Amino acid sequence: MTNNPIIEVKQLYKSFGNEPALNNLDFSVEKGETFGFLGPSGAGKTTTIKILTGQLNQDSGSATVLGSNSQHFKENIYRCRNA
Ligand SMILES: Nc1ncnc2c1ncn2[C@@H]1O[C@H](COP(=O)(O)OP(=O)(O)O)[C@@H](O)[C@H]1O
Ligand SMILES: [Mg+2]
Repeated sequence: MTNNPIIEVKQLYKSFGNEPALNNLDFSVEKGETFGFLGPSGAGKTTTIKILTGQLNQDSGSATVLGSNSQHFKENIYRCRNA
């Protein structure tokens, strides 16, 4: 079985105007890993989470969750699978 990361962020770039909020961010989170996502106010944490949850699109780079590109997430990913 392949051991793909649960979350994979590659060269993620997002700017609001001229100022980059994310400047080619890279990280990955493996299954079972406890990952601390820390940074001072304005570091880009919320921007990253919004991209990972499909609420915002990046300018370039990629973000995948369970192998799916977050740019392709539809509203139904928020629905309860048992409902
Ligand atoms: N909608 C927006 N419009 C303009 N600038 C934004 C917007 N959202 C975030 N920013 C800017 O992007 C940078 C990162 O913000 P943010 O992701 O909220 O950081 P954090 O969550 O780590 O505090 C900051 O400089 C912030 O001012
Ligand atoms: Mg925030």
